[in-house]
Amino acid sequence: MKILLVGSGGREHALALKLKAAQPSPELYFAPGSDAMGELGECLPMGGEAVDEVTAWCVDHRPDLVVVGPEAPLVAGLGDALRAQGIAVFGHGAATARLEGSKAFAKAFMVRHGIPCAASETFTDLQAAEKAIQTWSHGFPIVLKADGLAAGKGVVLASSREEALDTLRAFMGGQFGEASRTVVLEAPLVGMELSLHVLVDVDQEHGRYAMLPPCQDHKRIFEEDRGPNTGGMGAFGPIPFLRPQDLERLRVDLVEPTVRGCQQDGLVARGVFFLGVMWTAQGPKLLEYNVRFGDPETQVLMQLLDEDLPRLLLEVATGRLDRATLRLREGCAVTTVLAAEGYPETAKKGVPIFLGGPDVLVIHAGTRREGDQWVTNGGRVLNLVAMGDTLENARARIARNLDHVSWPGRQVRRDIGLKALRHAQAGKGVQDPWT
Ligand code: AMP
Ligand code: GLY
Repeated sequence: MKILLVGSGGREHALALKLKAAQPSPELYFAPGSDAMGELGECLPMGGEAVDEVTAWCVDHRPDLVVVGPEAPLVAGLGDALRAQGIAVFGHGAATARLEGSKAFAKAFMVRHGIPCAASETFTDLQAAEKAIQTWSHGFPIVLKADGLAAGKGVVLASSREEALDTLRAFMGGQFGEASRTVVLEAPLVGMELSLHVLVDVDQEHGRYAMLPPCQDHKRIFEEDRGPNTGGMGAFGPIPFLRPQDLERLRVDLVEPTVRGCQQDGLVARGVFFLGVMWTAQGPKLLEYNVRFGDPETQVLMQLLDEDLPRLLLEVATGRLDRATLRLREGCAVTTVLAAEGYPETAKKGVPIFLGGPDVLVIHAGTRREGDQWVTNGGRVLNLVAMGDTLENARARIARNLDHVSWPGRQVRRDIGLKALRHAQAGKGVQDPWT
């Protein structure tokens, strides 16, 4: 089987390793890939947003499957362009990718289909939005969301009206170009955040889906959830205190209406939906849709998933997903991100990495090879990934290995999964306050 994987980060390295491990092992191509991914297949000199170039390559080389990692190529229509050439793609078309590409579109979808979410209002007019902030009565922080893709920086939780007004003016003034000229103002939700991934194969004829185990990301740069937001400093899954009835609640309240909503709106889905969920005192509420796998959640999910990944993704891509339950490995997986000095503002690149033979999986997220030496080449540099029979044991395996992989200025959180572990050890569940 010949597979083209689009992307170059830690998520794609984890997907590439899982694809490669299938029997028989597929022939892998990457657009553009990375030096680490180059050890598993051939890197092509093109990125996913070069829709015409990638399509032309696929027309010439006829891969059996294209897997798209990041959201931007999907929003730009790569899925549609490839499908128009008869190529199987794991990844949504542009119409469905708007669920991530436009926060206003996503909120309207949630409201239309009765999906529990925070109260919100969408604005394109500065004065009307200013007035809404001046008369705000939903409590603080005021959540401001740039409508379009803003490289993970388009959501601000403003703790005062003044901060909200400053953010609003920056957004509407074009801080993220057209992406921030439309702004969603949203009421704050309090609770426990989780990442729910669902493989979706939905069209007018059928609405099939298969849920992956919920995991939890750690977005702040520093331990105990302090400091600025990042793309994610570590993740683990499954969440030990979620009971079967909690999973059922996620399915009934959020997943089912999403699938039915796509069908009613004529949105075809052939890929993954990653639901950002806040479990509040009133139950789970949807924060956002992503139309791609999470990073670093994927690093966890690829450990837990006990399936032939090429076959599974091809089933979704060709509208033939034939199971609602996925085979999973017993136990828990943890991934810890090792980030560069200066991340998330800037990342110090070109720093040599000491790789002292860790006995856990090492995923490359932002590295480059100089001769025999790996050097830093991005914000999130490496991820360590470990399985254990319990969350506690998976965490311990990571802890034993943290100092085997290092470089000057490396940033790491040693508390990935710790809050959930303590919550579980205290006998608490998802219904208890997450403090
Ligand atoms: P989003 O891209 O919409 O998921 O927002 C990014 C992050 O902002 C989320 O992961 C949450 O941590 C936070 N967030 C978004 N919306 C809300 C909300 N309504 N209340 C509280 N936090 C939020
Ligand atoms: N880890 C969060 C994301 O991928 O958006």
